[in-house]
Amino acid sequence: MQRIYTADQLRNTLKAQHSIAFVPTMGNLHDGHIALVSLAKQHAKCVVASIFVNPLQFGPNEDFASYPRTLEADCKRLEEAGADIVFIPSVTEMYPDFDGQQLNQSMTISAPPIATELCGASRPGHFSGVATVVMKLFNLVMPQVAVFGKKDFQQVFVIKELVRQFNLPIQIIAGDTVRETSGLAMSSRNGYLTPAQKAEAAQLHQCLVSIVNQIQQGNINFAGLTQSAAQTLTQKGWLVDYISVRAADTLLPATNQDKQLVVLIAAKLGNTRLIDNIDFCAK
Ligand code: PAJ
Repeated sequence: MQRIYTADQLRNTLKAQHSIAFVPTMGNLHDGHIALVSLAKQHAKCVVASIFVNPLQFGPNEDFASYPRTLEADCKRLEEAGADIVFIPSVTEMYPDFDGQQLNQSMTISAPPIATELCGASRPGHFSGVATVVMKLFNLVMPQVAVFGKKDFQQVFVIKELVRQFNLPIQIIAGDTVRETSGLAMSSRNGYLTPAQKAEAAQLHQCLVSIVNQIQQGNINFAGLTQSAAQTLTQKGWLVDYISVRAADTLLPATNQDKQLVVLIAAKLGNTRLIDNIDFCAK
């Protein structure tokens, strides 16, 4: 596996390559990321992964500085998984006007209206930051296929809109969420949890499973279901940001007519904000 640090080197290396599947990441790789690399391998001859903790998608009070950076272990895992190239740009490589303090990226992608809901409501500018860096990475890698995780369901939606609205010739593939045996969705942020919190964190997935089961048994009082789930989690010590049942293809609030649904959750355990979701068929 080749490690590439600059845009020029990346372009030169990929010049003659016409079958590229791309897996963008922020590093601190776990089995969820590796499953996306395996999925990518099924779709192209050359698999490119990137590792870049993107400052533009973090809010001022978020964990950009403390986000776990584990480059050597990440490269080892990517190589074992069969990635061909890992792109590891510096901030200056991605944001040419970075002055050491400010990114000075005056042109950005504005995210679609749904980006102000769910995670976007408590993370203003987050999806614009994601869409902007993914657009840059797409322009550098020029893949035919790009693989994202359903773990970040709203992110996949925004990326699909990016591709659709900007006519990008890229197929977006969504990989299933990889979980611990407890049901806890794997996440780089799980590393912030104490062992006791990690055990409690499985409640998030249990809560989603319970809502899905009740809907599949015919309960379509989505507001009632999500309110009582939020209450239960609050009693267990969680700070619930949102629980919402949405139409899986539009992310609009679910109606009784919708069949393909997704139930999404974000909640804080101590200082750690966790997200999860399950997409399913109502009947
Ligand atoms: P990161 O959080 O590192 O995630 C990289 C990719 O791995 C994303 O597509 C994410 O949805 C996927 N992923 C994370 N946990 C997963 C799990 N348990 N199972 C399956 N897939 C999982 O998402 C980002 O980075 C960034 O926003 C990025 C797209 C790289 C732009 O900066």
